[in-house]
Amino acid sequence: MSSLLNLHSLEKRFGDRVLFRIETLTLDRGKAYVLTGSNGSGKSTLLKILGGLERARVEQAFFLGHAVRFFPYPREMRRSVVYVHQHPVMFDTSIEANIGYGLAARGFTKGEIRERVEEAMRWAGLIGVRNLPPRTLSGGEKQRVALARAKVVEPKLLLLDEPTANLDTAAREQVMQLLPQLTSMGTSVVIACHDRELIRLSDALRLDLREGRLCAHAEDAE
Ligand SMILES: Nc1ncnc2c1ncn2[C@@H]1O[C@H](COP(=O)(O)OP(=O)(O)OP(=O)(O)O)[C@@H](O)[C@H]1O
Ligand SMILES: [Mg+2]
Repeated sequence: MSSLLNLHSLEKRFGDRVLFRIETLTLDRGKAYVLTGSNGSGKSTLLKILGGLERARVEQAFFLGHAVRFFPYPREMRRSVVYVHQHPVMFDTSIEANIGYGLAARGFTKGEIRERVEEAMRWAGLIGVRNLPPRTLSGGEKQRVALARAKVVEPKLLLLDEPTANLDTAAREQVMQLLPQLTSMGTSVVIACHDRELIRLSDALRLDLREGRLCAHAEDAE
């Protein structure tokens, strides 16, 4: 399996406090990773670093096999890495405009945008709510809009920060069902979570942040 992202000697500090020091982090293409760790261990911070939203010291970085400088964040990564916040922000326009936003920013034509948005809405089960104002959507529906918005740009790496926190069982199931389809289209996914069901996601590798170190496990280690 070819590797998407390799980072060596990643260190994050807030002032004098070292939040974590990671010797190596390798993410392979089309693979799912579940990022666990107690509250405050740095899961959200790590996702934001990977998505170029937070600075850190990185000694060496390779994206798709090419050496990249991690700061400033490389343009090719800016286009192909998407971070989804735990409470996704919705523009108060329409669901379609929210999902198509990233495509418009990437210069797709109106026809292409319409086609991709329609397909993504079907994928995420949003056809029935398509005409509702985005602010009226439930937490689970908002998460599915956020996933559809991420999927349409066909990212190489998708970073999901606790996508099922605060969702009821049915909504969580709906979100979870969408995840394997993302990896099958070649997208690598890193999911920060506490959710025991997500931790057991089949075929996902576990990354555990503990006491400032990152441990990788093949299976569900407690
Ligand atoms: N801008 C900042 N300045 C100083 N400290 C910060 C900043 N952002 C985060 N931290 C600290 O870094 C630590 C890790 O925060 P982070 O949100 O990454 O943890 P987390 O693992 O996502 O936690 P949770 O499970 O609660 O979501 C926390 O102690 C937090 O207070
Ligand atoms: Mg967090």
